[in-house]
Amino acid sequence: MTNRQKKILLGVTGGIAAYKSCELARLLVQAGASVRTVLTEAATRFVTPMTFQALTGNPARTRLFDEDHEAAMGHIELVRWADQVIVAPATADFLARLAQGRANDLLTTLCLATGAPVTVAPAMNHRMWQHPATRRNLALLEEMGVRCIGPDEGDQACGESGPGRMSEPGEIAALLLGEGELFKGRNVMVTAGPTREALDPVRYLSNRSSGRMGFALAEAFHGQGARVTLVTGPVSLATPPGIERIDVESAQEMRDAVFERIGEQDLFVGCAAVADYRPEDSSPHKIKKSSDILKLRLLRNPDILAEVAALDDGPWTVGFAAETTDLERHARQKLEGKGVDMIAANRVGRGLGFEVEENALEVFWKTGQQTLPQQDKGVLARELVALIAEVMGKVNH
Ligand code: PMT
Repeated sequence: MTNRQKKILLGVTGGIAAYKSCELARLLVQAGASVRTVLTEAATRFVTPMTFQALTGNPARTRLFDEDHEAAMGHIELVRWADQVIVAPATADFLARLAQGRANDLLTTLCLATGAPVTVAPAMNHRMWQHPATRRNLALLEEMGVRCIGPDEGDQACGESGPGRMSEPGEIAALLLGEGELFKGRNVMVTAGPTREALDPVRYLSNRSSGRMGFALAEAFHGQGARVTLVTGPVSLATPPGIERIDVESAQEMRDAVFERIGEQDLFVGCAAVADYRPEDSSPHKIKKSSDILKLRLLRNPDILAEVAALDDGPWTVGFAAETTDLERHARQKLEGKGVDMIAANRVGRGLGFEVEENALEVFWKTGQQTLPQQDKGVLARELVALIAEVMGKVNH
């Protein structure tokens, strides 16, 4: 199913995190999903139905007994329409009512009546989150098959700190949009993060890659049924569930890890920012300060992507191109020069590409190109994965 066909029912309950649901609605619509919103009475104290109507292009509902809305799309039709339900934010009170199976407003009624998967994104004061009643309600809901995303830990609107912040809209959108079977049973290897090229035991040459884009891709492939191997340079990111992670430091180590398993792969995606050069000599001892100028001689590193693309019977290959100027020209040169099947090019530098939460891609392959506009890396990764599946499918038939 493409995002364009996804029908997501967004439930909003009454907490300050309701303002983040506006961004969630925007991200889902931007990714092509069709979104309908239901607000509880308490939610309307924080955000208005009009906000969601403007963002989604669909009227937002608030009450079960509403003759006008029931005449247009009755609540049972709404239940049948949705293929996913997300409640964000989900308050402690909403979780309690859902766990008890109550149907005392439109949103709980819909959650009980739907056959679609229900996900909740809790948001509340950290003491409420840790209260045994909430823990018990959540355990009950999970037992019933309700999926929970978050909450995150950190500073809260109430001025306290702890677990209870609603997960970021980008993370929720990525989770909702990322499930399918586009790569079911396929082996996919993704490289991510920077490499570190040692100068001595305490210093190295590296770059600003955070690993976010590569990790988001690994997660997106996994969401589409792939067995994912993630070969990553040093980053401070948690491993997404269900993914096999191999940690490396240098470009040479990354190459070795890639080639140990490349024979099993159907697809290779090189998202790592691999250092092109390494110091000719890595000193076994810390280099001492001596003259005013220290000259370094650097040697070319292996080009992992080009080597994978040159394999006989190798996997389908997708490379990235990080460019500060002439994006298309350089990307096309890399497509040809490295002999890959597809190149995803991003502008980098000055707050773009590296480190940041969002990215935008210009994707090129022999017979086409497509722009994937600036958005959260999680959502962007889902879009790229769908595009790769589409192009691979066309090429293979
Ligand atoms: O990690 P983030 O902070 O989220 O940032 C994401 C990103 C900007 C790092 C990512 O989107 C990206 O652009 N990754 C590729 C960065 C890069 O090294 O680009 P390049 O144009 O120098 O290399 C082109 C391609 O060759 C890349 O697929 C790279 O993995 C590969 N390569 C490069 C050199 C080398 N020795 N071996 C390689 O395999």
